[in-house]
Amino acid sequence: MKAIIPVAGVGTRLRPHTFSHPKVLLNVAGKPIIGHIMDKLIDAGIDEAIVIVGYLGNMVEDWLKAHYKIKFTFVNQPERLGLAHAIWMCRPYVTPDEPLLIILGDTIFDVDLNPVLKSPHSTLGVKEVEDPRRFGVAVMGEGKIAKLVEKPDTPISNLAIVGLYFLLHAGPLFERIEHLIDENITTKGEYQLTDALELMIEDGETFTAFPVQGWYDCGKPETLLSTNEILLQKQPSARQFHGCIINEPVFIADTATIENSIIGPNTTIGWQAVIKDAIVENSIVGNYARVSQIMLDHSIIGNNAVISGNPQSVNIGDYSEIRVG
Ligand code: UTP
Repeated sequence: MKAIIPVAGVGTRLRPHTFSHPKVLLNVAGKPIIGHIMDKLIDAGIDEAIVIVGYLGNMVEDWLKAHYKIKFTFVNQPERLGLAHAIWMCRPYVTPDEPLLIILGDTIFDVDLNPVLKSPHSTLGVKEVEDPRRFGVAVMGEGKIAKLVEKPDTPISNLAIVGLYFLLHAGPLFERIEHLIDENITTKGEYQLTDALELMIEDGETFTAFPVQGWYDCGKPETLLSTNEILLQKQPSARQFHGCIINEPVFIADTATIENSIIGPNTTIGWQAVIKDAIVENSIVGNYARVSQIMLDHSIIGNNAVISGNPQSVNIGDYSEIRVG
């Protein structure tokens, strides 16, 4: 079965890191965000991926081709007109009768996809949230979805659509998206996938919902760090380093150098990074970064960045250099 993975976005909320890297290649718990997603898809038997790329798309393409052997089709979305528009770009590569899994490229899920892919109906991943105004939401009725609303102004449901969609047949979705585009129907300025799916529901298609407990957003610095923490807790670590204290959970790349330092908890250290005379906790340190004589907490250090000096919490991009004191 094919999966469609939209990753054309600019990732503005994760600047400065996304000035030089697409969001989905940012390292969380030792792997790019999209690597976590690909591993889940391949475990579930997905053998073909259509990846919608735009901003820094070549980097995504190169990384995926270098790391996975499944069939990829890369589709360029030149203008970022919304998720429905992104999906619509894939229509030459999908036949109307085939089932489709759509999974956002910047959200990591902890869910067993096997029953989802065998669902007798189209089905959407949902999770209860406190403030649903930022999301598309599903209103349930009689065991199926009665209505979908994108970013509701009034509280109509607290079941957020998490970005995991299984469509029994691709054709009806593409027809509804085409309708949105032809009639220029947008919500909050974008062609919304939620609106296309709502049209399908209004036309009588049955959609069920499946609960997604593990839903880890990577879209902002604070959520990238909290996702890093949650994922590290799920995976075994760690090497010991002579003269250092390693407070698990941590991911330390096997080519990183750690000297006279305390690392962790909840910390990822990238490839060829050098940490010397430092304390680094609850942080992500990029590849080739150099960190010395400093205490870092809740920090994201870009690739090749250099930082030394007083204790702090920082968020610095690739190739930045900060030396304090
Ligand atoms: P987001 O709006 O959350 O991601 O879209 P973004 O645009 O990358 O980040 P910000 O808002 O600027 O910080 C959710 C997912 O849908 C994709 C994005 O790449 C992301 O994976 N998307 C969204 C597209 O591929 N095309 C679109 O037109 C819209």
